[in-house]
Amino acid sequence: MEHVVTTDNLTKMFGSFTAVDKLTLKIKQGEVFGFLGPNGSGKSTAIRMLCGILEPTSGSGTVLGYDIAKQSEEIKSKIGYMSQKYSLYDDLTVYENLEFYSGMYSIPYSVRKKRIAEMIGMSLLEGRENELAAGLSGGFKQRLALGCALISHPQILFLDEPTSGISPTSRRMFFKIIQRLANEGVTVMVTTHFMDEAERCNNIAFISEGSLIANDTPDNLRNSVIKGCLVELEYPDAMSKIQEIEKIPYVRECTIHGSLLHILLDSESSLEPFNKLINAEAKKIKPSLEDIFIYLSRMKKKAG
Ligand SMILES: Nc1ncnc2c1ncn2[C@@H]1O[C@H](COP(=O)(O)OP(=O)(O)OP(=O)(O)O)[C@@H](O)[C@H]1O
Ligand SMILES: [Mg+2]
Repeated sequence: MEHVVTTDNLTKMFGSFTAVDKLTLKIKQGEVFGFLGPNGSGKSTAIRMLCGILEPTSGSGTVLGYDIAKQSEEIKSKIGYMSQKYSLYDDLTVYENLEFYSGMYSIPYSVRKKRIAEMIGMSLLEGRENELAAGLSGGFKQRLALGCALISHPQILFLDEPTSGISPTSRRMFFKIIQRLANEGVTVMVTTHFMDEAERCNNIAFISEGSLIANDTPDNLRNSVIKGCLVELEYPDAMSKIQEIEKIPYVRECTIHGSLLHILLDSESSLEPFNKLINAEAKKIKPSLEDIFIYLSRMKKKAG
């Protein structure tokens, strides 16, 4: 089976509000699939439908060949899932948490010890087996939660913002583990707000207000999405200049990135007149994933 996740016009409504809107996508076995979008765009809702926790309103989907609407029990027993508010038992130790999840997944007693040791190794928790989960710092907690989600050796792992609220070092460690799992054949669908993590995914889907607005490799997104010429400009007091710059007819967009302005011009031939007009030296740049997502979100808003 090449595609371990497929969805076709998958939709979830809460009352009259559409949280996930006709989502159609495919995820290949062994890839790290980044699921991105602003707060409230429907990422967690989509993942919960894929995990068999939430019933779709319409449309369909499969995970490991199982129908998400009709075979949710099979799916739940075959996948690993770490929710945004992942659940560890604070009053159990590291070891006991893993033992508890072994029980939940009915891991045979004969392999439990070995499996728990493997997860402790993977999550870099050696020597902390007897510490209470409550006392662990953020990065350790997150890796323990990952160990719990992986204790049954699932072929696919759904991670909902696993790296929010932890240090950059812990984030990097966490993502390395994810990439190693994918190299071993585990498929990983992961939501994140961090562009450096998106960069490391094999494929990215970007959703806004419940709809898919881009789905491609990071390279293809960078090379093909933005039409026009993106330039960067260091400008004192950049914030106050945005409105003025946006009034220039061949300027399509102007966004602020720290102390820099990113300006989207109609074409490269506008660069010289632009620099003359504002008496500056803007330079052409290759768009980053962040530029792409800001651009896509704005296009979507304009389209209504
Ligand atoms: N059970 C529910 N009942 C009503 N509305 C809901 C429910 N669950 C989610 N929503 C709404 O659906 C929308 C999508 O929410 P969701 O949690 O899927 O977004 P998200 O992309 O995961 O956001 P975040 O990045 O903040 O985690 C939001 O507007 C949210 O308020
Ligand atoms: Mg969410």
